[in-house]
Amino acid sequence: MEDLIYLDNGATSFPKPEAVYTFMDKFYRNNGVSPGRSGYDLSIETGNIIEDTRKTMAAYFNGKDPNRLIFTANSTDALNLAINGLLSPGDHVITTTLEHNAVLRPLHHMALYNDVEVDYLPFDKNGFINPKDFVSKFKTNTRLVVVNHGSNVIGTVQPLKEIGKLCKKKGVTFLVDASQTAGKLPIDIEDMNIDVIAFTGHKSLLGPTGIGGLYAKKNVTIKHTRAGGTGVRSAEKHHLEEYPYRLEYGTLNTVGIAGLYAGIKWVMDQGIDKIHRHEMALTEQLRDGLDKIENVVTYCSEDLTNHIGVLSFNVKGFEAANTATILDGDYNIACRSGLQCAPLVHEQLGTDQISGTVRMGLGPFNTREHVAHAIKAVSEIAGFYSKKG
Ligand code: ALA
Repeated sequence: MEDLIYLDNGATSFPKPEAVYTFMDKFYRNNGVSPGRSGYDLSIETGNIIEDTRKTMAAYFNGKDPNRLIFTANSTDALNLAINGLLSPGDHVITTTLEHNAVLRPLHHMALYNDVEVDYLPFDKNGFINPKDFVSKFKTNTRLVVVNHGSNVIGTVQPLKEIGKLCKKKGVTFLVDASQTAGKLPIDIEDMNIDVIAFTGHKSLLGPTGIGGLYAKKNVTIKHTRAGGTGVRSAEKHHLEEYPYRLEYGTLNTVGIAGLYAGIKWVMDQGIDKIHRHEMALTEQLRDGLDKIENVVTYCSEDLTNHIGVLSFNVKGFEAANTATILDGDYNIACRSGLQCAPLVHEQLGTDQISGTVRMGLGPFNTREHVAHAIKAVSEIAGFYSKKG
């Protein structure tokens, strides 16, 4: 059977660089002990990889204090910690219709159970939030702005710097969901005025699933919403106040952190800009190819500047899920269909009425041949439909 053409890198990157597999394997065989907590040499050595990864990730975001970089299971976990820990009853939040359920659902719960009020800003016809739209939405009780950096449905990258400037002026905490962009784009939280940023390790940072994190600047207070073991000062009844312990609970996912370490190292060694240019060249090839096919519609991809390698489309007359099933079954192409956990994007595009979109996500190991094969496959599916239809 022909090799699988994997175009579902928006969900998770696959395969990982060889260096990630080998580093994780070696690390877990040699260092599979509890990190730091026990004083023996191997435990300390294992703890060192955590601290090295903290430093590397904090430096990537230009975070000044590596201890404010905390590890979580993924970005949903990080966003829950941030949203639940930043808001209090009576607070107002401004967010966007581009958000993933990792933001929408915690906010919905806060609205339902904690008397938090949420406003959702729509994106324009090209898929961008206009920073000016925030201005009229700020209220005296606005505590938080949450913005998705790169959309997992349409791939547009939001103007964080401008939004951050407005938040700073208003004294409102700015939380960014960088699930799709961490490892794809340079992110400078100082320059962009970001207060808190959430990331996952298994997408463009090329690590494994089950590892993510949060960087929280000194000026923000994230309340404790969980408590547990920290490995230090065990006699204290209250969960520790200081970072990183403040937001870390129980034994960390050391092998995941090791994989994240190897992943970000690989990305940095290759050059983040080089990887991005490669993915965007493929995205352009895909967009141009799909746009030439009659009966195919692409969403918000007219201008690929400020974009990541994520593209949504539909074959007219086909349910998105059916197109994806044919792509898998007949062409051995893996991609994701449906609402991609971002229902408000589809509500705004009107694609919620036709069960979502087919989404392709390009990764560093995709090639022009993969994209050409995908275009040909979609063209054949669309051609079949036009003959039948
Ligand atoms: N959020 C991931 C996606 O977009 C899982 O597919």
